[in-house]
Amino acid sequence: MLEIAGKEEVAEGVVALNLVHPAGARLPDWTPGTHIELVLPQGMIRHYSLCGNRWDAYTYRIAVLREPRGRGGSAFVHDALRPGDRVGVGGPRNHFPLAPSEKYLFIAGGIGITPLLPMIHQAELLGTEWQLLYGGRARASMAFAGELSAGYGERVHIVPQDDCGLLDLASWLGTPRPDTKVYCCGPAPLLAAVAAACADWPPYALRTERFAAAGQAAPVRDTPFEVALRRTGRVVTVAPGTSVLEAVRRAGVEVLSSCEQGTCGTCLTPVLEGRPDHRDSVLADHQRAANDCMFPCVSRSCDDRLVLDL
Ligand code: FES
Repeated sequence: MLEIAGKEEVAEGVVALNLVHPAGARLPDWTPGTHIELVLPQGMIRHYSLCGNRWDAYTYRIAVLREPRGRGGSAFVHDALRPGDRVGVGGPRNHFPLAPSEKYLFIAGGIGITPLLPMIHQAELLGTEWQLLYGGRARASMAFAGELSAGYGERVHIVPQDDCGLLDLASWLGTPRPDTKVYCCGPAPLLAAVAAACADWPPYALRTERFAAAGQAAPVRDTPFEVALRRTGRVVTVAPGTSVLEAVRRAGVEVLSSCEQGTCGTCLTPVLEGRPDHRDSVLADHQRAANDCMFPCVSRSCDDRLVLDL
């Protein structure tokens, strides 16, 4: 449990929370790209990127966008959580780490700015050249836009859609730059557009973190398969239409989950045998090819049998 030490509105529809240990203890270290999970009432678990100062060992800072069409997690954070309240916290976990590079191009869409803030601070600390392209619906809704512009001047390009239209990805990404890594976080259409614009860039030049699951092809197989749980000694059958996570839970084995859409990385599970049919939006291609882990909330099996370290 962590305590809400501060809550402030940082843009239209966005509140930032500072979380501390109730006894003032240090919090686990983290690196840019890390998220934590908030455990909210009725079993709601929501993941939020840490966007504060990673060298402050006593405070986690997150920013939460109110999602009117969401399932209630962001509304609870906005309307019910108050300074002094305590909330369950999972993590920290990092599925979006900042790899070394000569230069960085950061691309944010809306609240997707949050994981990029610590990356920008890290790039500054290392003296690495970077630029930020930050798009949003309207300037007033773009969290941290003012402080980014004020702090970093011309390296920050703020593009409110109501004034300037969509991000001009063709001119930013049209020519591949072998010395630059592109880090992008935002809604699915932005990630798809950036991925398309980076098609000719070197492999792994683009790293993304998505909030919603990518569109998926049909599963590799439409017949049941068996999942053996090595540590608990159970064997479960996963029928079409049932997720591995559901089948494992029905067998009484608990696996921590959050998004259940293959986007947050919470349910990461080691694979001991077999080939998963990866259907998440977290792993990079080379990580998928290793077949040594999977996200059972969405991923399935290519073979008749998978063996998991559960
Ligand atoms: Fe989020 Fe599985 S619960 S990836």
